[in-house]
Amino acid sequence: MSTPPITPPAVPAVQTQALSRAYGEMKALEALDLVVNRGDLFGFIGSNGAGKTTTLRILATFLPPSAGSAFVLGHNVVSSVNEVRRLIGYMPDFFGVYKEMEVTEYLDFFGACYRIPSSKRDKTVADVLELVGLTEKRGALIGALSRGMQQRLGLARVLIHDPQLLLLDEPASGLDPRARIEMMAVLQELQRMGKTIIISSHILSELQSLCNRVAIIERGRLIYAGPTQGIRSQMEQGFAFLIAVSGDVPAALEICRRQPETLSASLRDDGRIQVRLSGDTPDPSGLAAALVGGGLRLTGLREEEVGLEEVFMRVTRGETQ
Ligand SMILES: Nc1ncnc2c1ncn2[C@@H]1O[C@H](COP(=O)(O)OP(=O)(O)O)[C@@H](O)[C@H]1O
Ligand SMILES: [Mg+2]
Repeated sequence: MSTPPITPPAVPAVQTQALSRAYGEMKALEALDLVVNRGDLFGFIGSNGAGKTTTLRILATFLPPSAGSAFVLGHNVVSSVNEVRRLIGYMPDFFGVYKEMEVTEYLDFFGACYRIPSSKRDKTVADVLELVGLTEKRGALIGALSRGMQQRLGLARVLIHDPQLLLLDEPASGLDPRARIEMMAVLQELQRMGKTIIISSHILSELQSLCNRVAIIERGRLIYAGPTQGIRSQMEQGFAFLIAVSGDVPAALEICRRQPETLSASLRDDGRIQVRLSGDTPDPSGLAAALVGGGLRLTGLREEEVGLEEVFMRVTRGETQ
C-alpha cells in the first residue's frame, strides 16, 4: 500500500498579521489580522475613514506598514514587491482616465507596460474587453463612456496581466443601480474563473448578496470577519420575533415578558408585540404555547427581518459588544 502524498497546506490569498499603519499621530490601522482564502469574493466593509484604502494600498505594495506584516499568496508585500505586483490587479478608488484615448489604445498601452508581447496583445485586449462587456466600445473614446463603463474599463485594465488576486477599492461607488449590477455580474464571472477578489465598500448591503465572506472594520480595527450569513447572529443581541394576537394584548405582552428565553418584549405602534429571544437559534414555540395556554388567539408569528445594513449601523455606532 502506498501512502497518500502529503499536500502542503495551501497558502491563503491574503494574510495580515497585526498589520498597523499610522499617519503621524493618526492610527489608521491597528493590529489587523485578516485571512482571505483563494477563490473568495471577499467584501471589505467600513465607513469612510475606517482604513479600507490604507489596507488595500499596503496589500498592493504602494504603502509600507508601520508595524505587522502582510502576505499575498505567501509573498511578503514589503520584501517581495515585484512578485506581489505580478500577482495582483489593484484598482484604486480614484484613477485618472485618459479621456482622449480610445478604449483599445488604452488597454494596449497597459499591456505594453506589463511587457505582453505585441503579437499576443490584440488577443489579450479583446479577451479582457469581452470579460467586462465592452467589446462593442473598443473603438470609443474613453471620455464618451458612461461612468459605469469607465469603471469596467478600469477593471479590464487591472485584468490585462491575468492576476490571481484583484484588489478593488470601492469600484461600485457613484454608480447607478444598473451599472452596479453590471459590475457585480462581472465580478461573479471573475470568481467563477478562479480569481480571488477583495472588494471594498462603505455600504454593507451592496455586498451582502455578492460576497461569500466579509470583514467589517471600524476606526482601523476588525469588528467582524467570516461568512456573510454569520454577521447577523454574531452581532445582533438576540433574534427578534413579531407576534400578533387577537384579544387582550396587554395580557399577551405580560406573558411574553415572563418567558425565560425572553430578553425584551415591547408593544409596537402597529399593535404587534416585538420579542427578543436569547440563543443562537432561538425557538419561539415555547412562547407560542404560553400565549395559547393563556387563552389568547395567535394570529401571527414571524421572525423580524433586520437588514444587514441596520446591523452594520448598530455595530459602527457601538450599540453592540
Ligand atoms: N495620507 C494620509 N495622511 C494622513 N491621514 C490619512 C492619509 N490617508 C488616510 N488618512 C487617514 O487614515 C484614516 C483611514 O483612511 P482610509 O484608509 O482612506 O479609510 P477608508 O478607505 O476606509 O475611507 C482616515 O482617518 C484618514 O483620514
Ligand atoms: Mg477609501
